[in-house]
Amino acid sequence: MSATARKSAPLPDDIRAMKGGTPIVSLTAYTTPMAQMMDTHCDFVLVGDSVGMVLHGLPSTLGVTMDMMVMHGKAVARGLTSAMMVIDMPFGSYEEGPEQAFRNAARLMSETNAGAVKLEGGVAMADTIAFLVARGIPVMAHIGLTPQSINTLGGYKVQGRGDAAATLIADAKAVADAGAFAVVLEKVPETLANQITEAVDIPTIGIGASAGCDGQILVVDDMLGLFTAFKAKFVKRYAELGVDGETAIAAYAEDVRARRFPGPEHVFGDAVPGAKT
Ligand code: KIV
Repeated sequence: MSATARKSAPLPDDIRAMKGGTPIVSLTAYTTPMAQMMDTHCDFVLVGDSVGMVLHGLPSTLGVTMDMMVMHGKAVARGLTSAMMVIDMPFGSYEEGPEQAFRNAARLMSETNAGAVKLEGGVAMADTIAFLVARGIPVMAHIGLTPQSINTLGGYKVQGRGDAAATLIADAKAVADAGAFAVVLEKVPETLANQITEAVDIPTIGIGASAGCDGQILVVDDMLGLFTAFKAKFVKRYAELGVDGETAIAAYAEDVRARRFPGPEHVFGDAVPGAKT
């Protein structure tokens, strides 16, 4: 599907149908202007719980709340017309069981107008995914490095090396069988990403999982160089907006202190009869 030729946002089934074709393009977004920038270039936009780290300065995604996701989801929805919006279920909003997950997923969908939710987990979340899908909520799964579980995964490590590969393949099959329309694979070795992509009939969306996946996603603040606290190996920086922004702010500060700003072109004259401004 060509994003520029599209007349309306794709549905989860359209994304599913892109398996094995032109790679699916996706980025995260948290605000209206960012969503507007990527709308015609992405097949889907994720309101990721990474918002907690990149916009709110939290040390991990664990402190992100439903209210934060609803607020950022509404903002992103205002900026999209061509791309589908997927929204993350935050930590603690779905793990208790299918009913809790449904309640919170329904709130995210109805208050933000998202087309689907994303949740983290494989075999352990299969029943919950099936419950949501059977009740009208499209689900994107997320396996491999699942940041909401960093405390049990032992940090932001590559997942699925050695014997752990079989577990991840089982996770991918479980979420596909449960009805997920796509699965994010985060930080897994290339060979395993290829095996999983072949093993399931839903698209794999890679982040640190090689070009063998059916699509790619990056955190937008990472690829624009706005989030600079650390840079994962899998991030390609397409711009250095953090550096450029600080340079601009320093120039503004110097101009103000030297009385170079505001200049004559920024100043209002005395009122003239009939003038509009
Ligand atoms: O929250 C997020 O940004 C994500 C992506 C890294 C896939 O889940």
